[in-house]
Amino acid sequence: DFTKIKTADGPGLRLYDPGFQNTAVAQSRITFIDGDAGILQYRGYDIEDLAEKSNFIEVSYLLIYGELPNKAQYSQFHHEIMHHTFVHLQLAELMKSFNYDAHPMGMFISGMSAMSTFHPEANPALVNNDMYVEDPRVRNKQIFRLLGKSPTLAAYAYRHRIGRPYNQPRNDLSYTANFLYMMDRLSEDEYEPHPVLVKALDILFILHADHELNCSTAAMRHIGSSHVDPYSAVAGASAALYGPLHGGANEAVLRMLEGIGSVANVIPFLEQVKNREKKLMGFGHRVYKNYDPRARIIRRVAYEVFEVCGREPLIEVAIALEKAALADDFFVQRKLYPNVDFYSGLIYKAMGFPTDFFPVLFAIPRVAGWLAHWKEACEDPKGKIWRPRQIYLGEGKRSYVPLDHRS
Ligand code: ACO
Repeated sequence: DFTKIKTADGPGLRLYDPGFQNTAVAQSRITFIDGDAGILQYRGYDIEDLAEKSNFIEVSYLLIYGELPNKAQYSQFHHEIMHHTFVHLQLAELMKSFNYDAHPMGMFISGMSAMSTFHPEANPALVNNDMYVEDPRVRNKQIFRLLGKSPTLAAYAYRHRIGRPYNQPRNDLSYTANFLYMMDRLSEDEYEPHPVLVKALDILFILHADHELNCSTAAMRHIGSSHVDPYSAVAGASAALYGPLHGGANEAVLRMLEGIGSVANVIPFLEQVKNREKKLMGFGHRVYKNYDPRARIIRRVAYEVFEVCGREPLIEVAIALEKAALADDFFVQRKLYPNVDFYSGLIYKAMGFPTDFFPVLFAIPRVAGWLAHWKEACEDPKGKIWRPRQIYLGEGKRSYVPLDHRS
């Protein structure tokens, strides 16, 4: 419901729209979603087409620069990103300073945030901060660094967690193959990652790369609107992604499936959901009121990964859960369908990633989308600092009562 309130202290009407359900806060040319029809397009290209024919680096270029690259642009972009994969030695040391059981997402956020202290152009006190907004060379450098170093920081968080030494990036591999290499997710010859798994992860990265103004991308635009450096803004966006209602849902889904345990427990679990004792994680979406097109692709990829890694037994529980929910009035009436997080965790589990690492696997590719939105906002001549208004419901003017006189 909108509440229209005539403002006394500013121009125009103020609309009360909790959670921005009906508020457009930006004009964008990056991603189109038709939630009723279940359509998702990056720069006009269907997600199904990109997942089948493209790769994550090309899709990142498309999101950030608006067009598919030609051969020269592609190889230059790929080269730049793969030659910005190493992180400063002191930053690597910082990643070692966490407790062994720290959540990898907390480590990832901290690593991202720390990046702003390693690159002087990020500090508005040292340089004219207009440079960050206006000089495309500086902006591109920041894009290369953030895309290049996010898999490295993620892999360091993982390696620290399991008490093993870091594997340095290998720039001769593809973006996803290098990431799997640094994680030590290698094929039987223990030398290079399995090509089927590289391809599967690349598709997952494409599917997660952008989703217009989701919670974390809105956070990226919001933080970036103050003209802070993009490393700090990406740290803030990552924090928004960490929550279980957003990117943390893939971890929550797997814990839910483990809790349900077997197909026999699916119906009793759904009863608990309908009684509002539990939430069906990985279901429902603010924009999709139809099947999330990404979930459909992910389900197919799951079977390809199972061919290599073995079938993850919880898939049976997930399929039974989906089938029962889609046949139940409670979910049908509320248009609740599986979202991108429902099946992705099963793939990650089959590939051997620990459950609490799942949100990091979402954050790495979403860096591309965050950067696309940040760049678009930087270049928007109508860009302004984001400063929403509120409807004040508190007390009127009161007189201060000293502590000794309060009852
Ligand atoms: N399980 C049970 N009921 C649900 C669920 C769910 N997963 N999602 C929504 N509902 C119900 C709500 O209780 C509400 O019912 P009511 O009208 O009877 O009160 C109705 O459906 C509408 O839900 P809202 O919470 O108003 O929808 P909103 O758009 O605010 O929230 C959200 C969307 C946060 C994604 C929600 O569906 C949810 O919490 N899902 C589970 C978490 C999840 O999977 N998040 C990942 C989303 S995708 C992504 O970020 C990558």
